[in-house]
Amino acid sequence: MTQKPEERKMSPQETARLESIKRAWQQRRQIGDRLSRVKVKIGVYSGKGGVGKTTVAVNMAAALSSRGYSVGLLDADIDCPNAAKAIGATEAARMEKDGQFIPGEAYGVKVMSMSFFQENEEEAIIWRGPMIHNALNQFLQNTDWGDIDYLVVDLPPGTSDAPLTIMQVLQLDGFVVVATPQSLAKLDAKRSINMIKKMNVNVLGVLENFSGGVFGEGAGEELAKEMGLDFLGRHELLPDYMNSDKPTILESNKVKQEYERLTDLVVAKLPATP
Ligand SMILES: Nc1ncnc2c1ncn2[C@@H]1O[C@H](COP(=O)(O)OP(=O)(O)OP(=O)(O)O)[C@@H](O)[C@H]1O
Ligand SMILES: [Mg+2]
Repeated sequence: MTQKPEERKMSPQETARLESIKRAWQQRRQIGDRLSRVKVKIGVYSGKGGVGKTTVAVNMAAALSSRGYSVGLLDADIDCPNAAKAIGATEAARMEKDGQFIPGEAYGVKVMSMSFFQENEEEAIIWRGPMIHNALNQFLQNTDWGDIDYLVVDLPPGTSDAPLTIMQVLQLDGFVVVATPQSLAKLDAKRSINMIKKMNVNVLGVLENFSGGVFGEGAGEELAKEMGLDFLGRHELLPDYMNSDKPTILESNKVKQEYERLTDLVVAKLPATP
């Protein structure tokens, strides 16, 4: 008779490790299930801060929604979440008893942001990489977007942990890279585009924001050419953005036209939504 090999007992460390791997798998699966109900995911990104990502994400989400699509806006900026304020969320997100997050709402767009869960909006969120990673995963795992056509994701700037996590976990269908018209900023923009390319994600093209006036114009188009990407146009530096507590397309015809054009280009470059 063959003797059964003696079963080795796992050490507490090994058991804990196995449990953590199981949890990570479960989380990935749940995120996958949630996101399988989102038809198209668009990221808005830049290497530098303050170039207009949130503005672009908010106005593009509003433009898509006004075309009759069902749209979600995810504020993936965990440190400085301001997309809910910029879109003028009239209804806050909430957490259900079972731990699910129900997004807030603004102008027909479902909105999810860390800011809904801050007790004081001026409070600083100082989190290190792993905590940001964890918070993003929890957001993605627990937010009930329902069945939506487009999810627009407002990314934090730079090449640090947070944008990388989003790129890895979300598998976005395409990115709009926002750049400024100054040549000096081109290097940062190039770095960030190279990072996205390394992650094998699809760059839809480069948009130049703050175009004209004191900042001049042209670096966005040059950048697109040098990086072999499409140029998505120039959005002028305008006083129309002064009240930035609702999508500016709702108040300015000039800005509306710019975003209609951008939305046409972006929709045409992405998988069709039936
Ligand atoms: N084309 C424009 N003309 C004038 N003002 C603009 C324009 N685009 C954006 N703004 C304004 O510039 C400021 C910064 O924009 P925004 O918050 O969208 O940048 P951001 O890239 O998201 O910044 P951060 O990196 O901090 O997240 C806002 O007050 C916004 O209203
Ligand atoms: Mg922003």
